Amino acid sequence: MAAPRTLIAGNWKMNGLNAALAEVTALRDGLSAPNCDILLCPPATLIAAMAEVAGPIMVGGQDCHAAASGAHTGDIAAEMIADAGGAAVIVGHSERRTDHAETDAQVKAKAEAAHRAGLIAIVCVGETEAERDAGRALDVVLGQTAASMPDGATAENTVIAYEPVWAIGTGRTPTLDDIAEMHDALRAKTAELTGSDAMRLLYGGSMKPGNAAEILAIETVNGGLVGGASLKAADFGAIIAAA
Ligand code: G3P
Repeated sequence: MAAPRTLIAGNWKMNGLNAALAEVTALRDGLSAPNCDILLCPPATLIAAMAEVAGPIMVGGQDCHAAASGAHTGDIAAEMIADAGGAAVIVGHSERRTDHAETDAQVKAKAEAAHRAGLIAIVCVGETEAERDAGRALDVVLGQTAASMPDGATAENTVIAYEPVWAIGTGRTPTLDDIAEMHDALRAKTAELTGSDAMRLLYGGSMKPGNAAEILAIETVNGGLVGGASLKAADFGAIIAAA
């Protein structure tokens, strides 16, 4: 099969006021024929304004509700993200799973809502440090993947992001062999679940300009989900260049 097109996605988390859009215009203006798809997921308050200035950079949300509308104070529907100019939404980030006790079943429902709204669902999975130390990383991550995979998932509408919880924002990353082992297993699992061996598999967790090239060179790594290093055009641009 042809290798899936690399996706470099940035997750701004709860960071960014209007002034931060200057980083997006700087990134946009610095892009020269990138060899990959690029996505930025700002806070919901910035999706529409970012989409206005992003040029070839796709914009997305960081979470969505499973319902299309209704009495859900403070939540945002996938349709709203699409209406604001979004093309994708992250679901099941470990910070949502931990801070909001989101279950695999809820993540699956959110991903299905994303598809109904025409968005790409980026489904996050990842083990804790205790789970890895106990030798359970593969079991945990493959189990989350199976239980969170939306019905009707295809290589076009769904992306899996492997983010070891202990690597997020810590400056620590798994060894390249450990990333390859997990991604190889995810390639097999996503093929088994969806019938497609072309679903994009992103690595996330302390991806930086200094380590992006070697991580992205792993055959079953089809891109990155970048947190802190996506906030500055120079850093994110360097990761895009490494792809
Ligand atoms: O979703 C991206 C993220 O959790 C990784 O964050 O800051 O370690 O790149 P960071």
